[in-house]
Amino acid sequence: MLAPILCVVGARPNYMKVAPIIRAISAVTQDIDSILLHTGQHYDESMNDQLFRGLRLPEPDFNLNVGSGTHAAQTADVMRKFEPILDKVEPSCVLVVGDVNSTLACALVAAKKLVKVVHVEAGLRSFDRSMPEEINRVLTDQISDVLYTTERSAHKNLEREGIDPKRVRFVGNVMIDSLLANLPHAIPTTQTLTRHELPASLAEEKEGYAVVTLHRPSNVDDRNTLAGLLKSLSHISQTHPLFWPMHPRTRSNIERFGLLPLLRSKYVAILPPLGYLEMLGLMSKARLVLTDSGGIQEETTALGVPCLTLRENTERPITVEEGSNTLVGREHQTIIRAVQEILETGGKAGRVPEYWDGRAADRIATHLVAWISENSGLGVA
Ligand code: UD1
Repeated sequence: MLAPILCVVGARPNYMKVAPIIRAISAVTQDIDSILLHTGQHYDESMNDQLFRGLRLPEPDFNLNVGSGTHAAQTADVMRKFEPILDKVEPSCVLVVGDVNSTLACALVAAKKLVKVVHVEAGLRSFDRSMPEEINRVLTDQISDVLYTTERSAHKNLEREGIDPKRVRFVGNVMIDSLLANLPHAIPTTQTLTRHELPASLAEEKEGYAVVTLHRPSNVDDRNTLAGLLKSLSHISQTHPLFWPMHPRTRSNIERFGLLPLLRSKYVAILPPLGYLEMLGLMSKARLVLTDSGGIQEETTALGVPCLTLRENTERPITVEEGSNTLVGREHQTIIRAVQEILETGGKAGRVPEYWDGRAADRIATHLVAWISENSGLGVA
């Protein structure tokens, strides 16, 4: 038996990435266990527990229960609480995914203790250092020993930052593994609406419904920016009923800024954060999706559903170049024109990028298990 792989999750977008990896590792070998550690960055039933259930993730072996805080406090708390667990488990490597604060915090603790770090979803860059995730991406990649990428643009980014290409491997997108495995079990939109006491008929009205998600500080923390976006969304609801599973940060800001009246319409349905299978059902049948999430840009590309990204940049350029995503920023006229175009033409269907085929976790598991067994963590095979 070799030392286990310590897999870290912290926030909602991590769960769908780690679930297929844990499954794939146990399919490849009985000789290396995966241990699951949750930092507790996300903790609400709606942000956490219902997603764990939907993805059939095992109960975490460890939970650091850090909760919310400033970036410094949250990151520091994860680091302080992670260290003794790392000492106890003595893993062959720490596997982190994505770009949340927990990703960087655990990678940093491991690297300083000379424990190998494996980063899944490496090399993505928005080139916007005002995003906390961009800082997390750049730093995590610098201290990782093995870097698995979702798209080829990541390789150029990593090379530019001086990372040895021998450490980097293109495997595809594990988030799409979860999507393809779970799509047959997606919960129909009408059922989701009914569960939240909304008329199921809303799903069939007007020109088809739109799904909205917004949570980036740059969109929701400033009153004027948020008010502008709400006005655009309210305008869109004249043609497309909006279904909006709302992130707690966004909900509290809308209330705090007194902006709720902007959303008072039968055609704007505010929902709590949804389970994974509900969200898949909602997105797969949407006429369009409006978002600032990274994961949703990828999921809509895999589903071939037109996506309008309410940001000035994306760290996932392949979703624009090949997929169904369009960057529209925050300017009202640009957003409305893009929606109009979807109404007239049906919008971008795009194509599914290379290796977004449901087998990315298999590629990771095969490579990682060979790397651990053959090199005892001394270098990439
Ligand atoms: C985090 C990630 C972001 C990811 C997002 C997905 C970082 C820097 N950001 O942002 O990359 O896209 O998760 O949701 O790691 N809150 C709750 N319940 C929870 C969790 C949070 O009410 O279970 C509230 C808290 O008031 C908190 C706020 O939401 O202050 C923000 O949570 P936090 O984890 O700090 O960052 P996110 O905005 O969720």
